[in-house]
Amino acid sequence: MKRRDFITTVAVSGGSAYAAMKALGLLEKPATAQSPSQRGSFRLQPSKRGNRVIILGAGLAGMASAYELGKVGYDCIILEARERAGGRCWTLRGGDQFTDTLGQTQTVQFDSGLYFNPGPARIPQEHITLDYCRELGVAVEVKANVNRREYYYNIQNAGPLSGQKVRAREAITDIRGYISELLAKAVNQNAINAPLTTEDKEKLVEFLRTYGDLSPDLFYKGSSRRGFTNYPSAGLQPGTQSDPYDLSALIQLGFADYESFEWDWQQQMTMLQPVGGMDQIAKAFESRVGNRIVFQSEVKEIRKTPNGVSIVYADSSGTNQQVTGDYCICTIPLPVLKSIPSDFSPELNEAIASVAAIYVRAGKGGLQFKRRFWEEDEDIFGGITWTDQDIAQIWYPSEGYLSKKGIMLGYYQFDDTKVGPLPPNQRLALALEQGSNIHPQYRNDFENGITLYWPTIPYSLGGWAEYTDDVRQRYYARLNEPDGNIYLCGEHVSYLTGWMAGALESARLVTSRINALA
Ligand code: PHE
Repeated sequence: MKRRDFITTVAVSGGSAYAAMKALGLLEKPATAQSPSQRGSFRLQPSKRGNRVIILGAGLAGMASAYELGKVGYDCIILEARERAGGRCWTLRGGDQFTDTLGQTQTVQFDSGLYFNPGPARIPQEHITLDYCRELGVAVEVKANVNRREYYYNIQNAGPLSGQKVRAREAITDIRGYISELLAKAVNQNAINAPLTTEDKEKLVEFLRTYGDLSPDLFYKGSSRRGFTNYPSAGLQPGTQSDPYDLSALIQLGFADYESFEWDWQQQMTMLQPVGGMDQIAKAFESRVGNRIVFQSEVKEIRKTPNGVSIVYADSSGTNQQVTGDYCICTIPLPVLKSIPSDFSPELNEAIASVAAIYVRAGKGGLQFKRRFWEEDEDIFGGITWTDQDIAQIWYPSEGYLSKKGIMLGYYQFDDTKVGPLPPNQRLALALEQGSNIHPQYRNDFENGITLYWPTIPYSLGGWAEYTDDVRQRYYARLNEPDGNIYLCGEHVSYLTGWMAGALESARLVTSRINALA
């Protein structure tokens, strides 16, 4: 009798399906139980037989797996297609060169000491990534992910503020003021449908008065919180408070997406970045497991054997080689994996192809300026300017404050259907043209730049897995199940997709599962 039939039979015959499932050990641990992969102390059990684990990919998931398994005596080998470790955890500096899948090569022209993170570029403070930074000795600094002096700049259907650089501080202070005013009036007119006592209502109105900086008669008439046209100074200079925008103009500007992005629990300040570039994390792992990595090894076949796995790869000379092991941890991004011949079950193949299809088409550009005009002319230190132009975002660097030159992120689209598909020189031209609408200083101060489109970056072929509910529901469980002794691992098998933490937690989970068996 199949398990499902047994459970149904028990249930139909008056027994409890729950009890039957429990008896069969089919019920998961309570949802509140901490997964072995999550934060906190982590150490695998010593390997019983020194099993051999073949890891595909020397990105963070692969290197963290080798690092944890290596600590307790497993014999690991990492096959890496590229000449470098780190995968998407990558930093570009002057002299670096890369070629995309269309054969377009770019050489980075940045001055020495300047860099750009084309992949991951920020770390939330509660991510496991920082535990590894601590353990591996990677210094981190604040990444200013939010700055009240950043701008909102919209031009499409944006009303009277169209084409104006609206400071986040002004827009946010004003909208908070107006919303507080509206709500305070609604409370006083008993127009809200909430079970509040008279005392609650009084307190709520008091709260709103402070929250929105309302006048005693509960109007929002502007606030010093939004800044000044003339700043307070010495002598007879009390400052001139700036006038608020009209509520209607703010509504038409439409900046809820921009402001609320920064409310996401993983985007709120404080955010961090490694000092000197994101690849410091990759390099720290590489310093521990580099001797296990075989570079320029392109995986050609993934096979199950009666007791383990067999992998065929092309070595740096293009010759096929074969390695066998007890287990395989496969961290290859799914858009790449889907085309590699394997013994995966049809269900797993379908899951891989389906999730590969929903990878984010992220694109980014890094621009070098000979002068930090955003600091010198506009007093902007870090943060993100948002726009409805194709460039979507401009990031002001969080490193090198007050120095001479700097690298700004000139665009970042999560779903880059406009900029990325262009040739690199046109991407750059577009970033400059649209960016100079916001900062005319671009025209004089730009020196050089690079752009990239993750769907055309070899061995990645996409940004990150971004599940729809439907795809998650249909395929995620299957991706999490091993196929024979082959385990998929990476951000794509986590609920932290698009974050290094997803890759690192996945590595802990998969190595724990192998450890429980061997
Ligand atoms: N972690 C990436 C970033 O912060 C990608 C991402 C964006 C993930 C938005 C989730 C939400 O840019």
